[in-house]
Amino acid sequence: MKILNGAALAKKIKSVLAIEIEYLVKKHERAPKLCIVLVGDDPASASYVKSKKKSCNEIGILCDLNIMPFSTSQDQLLALIETLNNDPEVDAILVQLPLPKHIDQSVILQAIDYKKDVDGLHPMNVGLLNISNDAIIPCTPKGILSLLKAEDVSITGKHCVVIGRSNLVGKPMAQLMLRENASVTVCHSKTRDLAYLTRQGEILIIAIGHPNLVNADMLKEGAVVVDVGINSVDGKLVGDIYNSIDVTNIEKKAAAITPVPGGVGPMTIASLLENVVEIYKKRVIK
Ligand code: GUN
Repeated sequence: MKILNGAALAKKIKSVLAIEIEYLVKKHERAPKLCIVLVGDDPASASYVKSKKKSCNEIGILCDLNIMPFSTSQDQLLALIETLNNDPEVDAILVQLPLPKHIDQSVILQAIDYKKDVDGLHPMNVGLLNISNDAIIPCTPKGILSLLKAEDVSITGKHCVVIGRSNLVGKPMAQLMLRENASVTVCHSKTRDLAYLTRQGEILIIAIGHPNLVNADMLKEGAVVVDVGINSVDGKLVGDIYNSIDVTNIEKKAAAITPVPGGVGPMTIASLLENVVEIYKKRVIK
């Protein structure tokens, strides 16, 4: 079974971007700038945001981190977004999810200028992904597709089964694979006979957020398995399937798998950096 090494590819993408950014900064006399907004002190979100900022700084992207208290009102958050939308120095805006329950996530995502929407979650970008080639693509699906392509996984005509229907991963992933000429099935918590469908997945993308829901018996022989899960079990990082209790049987059955850590996670960040640079270029190159 082949390990699809996202960490190595992400490193390569970052070094290429660093060179491009150095050139762009000289030419346009300013660095790309991302603003991250974090509301509250959820430890997982704080840790994700910290590694996003670190990666930006490593390759020459300016990154402002706006940390707001959990008690921040929706209007206060909307006011900050308005300021960032109107700031000519800010290329890209990322509001870390989830937001506290008293804030309506969809209102916030729709308030972001869709041209600065680095996560591709604004309805305009969601729509553009469905009908054209010039959407800003959500970072995790974009990173997964880059990894599959870099590893020469052929997609055209394949049956791709996606487990999970979130706006962040499952739905845009399905849309992207459709655009790549796969036949796509999307499964979710209400799906009847999940195993029947997963056994048909030549490419199986698992984005559930719970370990051990999918086992080796549910895989098609020779499947390419993408594990989006990041779960902490007894203090150890495990995927939704990678490093699960069934690991030996999975190794026998799958042709390839993304590891956790070192698979999809680093690719999400690499795609975020690519999106920031893409947006910056559209803004400076008129
Ligand atoms: N929370 C978990 N993953 C993400 C992501 O990719 N973007 C945002 N904005 N929030 C997240």
